Amino acid sequence: MIKALALEILQISEQAAIASFPFIGSGDKNGADDAATTVMRAGLNALPIDAKVVIGEGELDEAPMLQINEQLGQGGLSVDIAVDPIEGTVLTVNNQSNALTTLALAPRGTLLHAPDMYMEKLAVGPNGKEAVDINLSIETNLQNLSSALNKPLTALNVAIQNRPRHEALINRIRMCGAKVQLFDEGDVTYALATAMEQTGIDLFIGTGGAPEGVVAAVGLKCLGGKMQGKLKPVSDEQVNRCFLMGVTDLDKTLEHSDLVSSDDCIFVGTGITDSILMKGVKLAKDTVYQTESLLLSSQDQHSRLIKASYLKSAVTSLSLTS
Ligand code: FBP
Repeated sequence: MIKALALEILQISEQAAIASFPFIGSGDKNGADDAATTVMRAGLNALPIDAKVVIGEGELDEAPMLQINEQLGQGGLSVDIAVDPIEGTVLTVNNQSNALTTLALAPRGTLLHAPDMYMEKLAVGPNGKEAVDINLSIETNLQNLSSALNKPLTALNVAIQNRPRHEALINRIRMCGAKVQLFDEGDVTYALATAMEQTGIDLFIGTGGAPEGVVAAVGLKCLGGKMQGKLKPVSDEQVNRCFLMGVTDLDKTLEHSDLVSSDDCIFVGTGITDSILMKGVKLAKDTVYQTESLLLSSQDQHSRLIKASYLKSAVTSLSLTS
């Protein structure tokens, strides 16, 4: 069972976030990505798993580590890995809120090999699952969600990335009377937030990275929520990419079960900078790193917010473990 790996996966995520810490506010995107990726790769490679990276840092020829199709682990449980070592690299290096590490595992063959392109996405928590659908208009979805959640339209809060491509959608949501919560970067946080009542976010909608869609889909599965997507290739090359990765029907609605088809999966994210879900890494008195992570397992559908402390003096040796 994947859940048996929870503690190891959690530690890898925590250590990747700590490795990113020196790069917060540095402007060094490559340095930040390299640091987190190195730690994640070393940690995953040391585990008793037979793992294949299905969502990673890039293709074989462009990513030296955690490349798509890379095999990792010392042998054992056969799993797919979806990883974004830093979700929000720009946020990290500009010291803005909402950057986190993300790591998701499911049995081999059960995660969509989503190409690195845009995906139209919709995410909602457990109580809105039956009410909304990516193929309905935003007006209908909001009306249905209002009834399902027993909230007036004016109390609904929709998270959407602050991009010109969403301008018309944002206007339509506001015309319905619902609230819009704009964010700069970091789809995964806001998709998961729909299934965590304390965030006050009822619906996540918009177009963002397809890989982040799969990572978020695993988290939402663990939380009992729903995620749907539609790939949005913008060039012939991207269309071919879809075909090569086994996605032949480009109009297809990717249902939650297409994004992740197993009920045995695990998601972990550790805050790099503060977000609505958890705090970022802190270094207390220059001696102790403190982390907060969200650990989600589909087996129990509980979310765990886990605090950890690492002595700074012990971290260097951890990062170098391979
Ligand atoms: P990274 O994980 O690569 O840092 O991407 C952050 C992100 O905000 C995603 O959450 C989102 O899906 C994507 O970028 C959208 O990118 P764009 O800047 O093209 O709108």
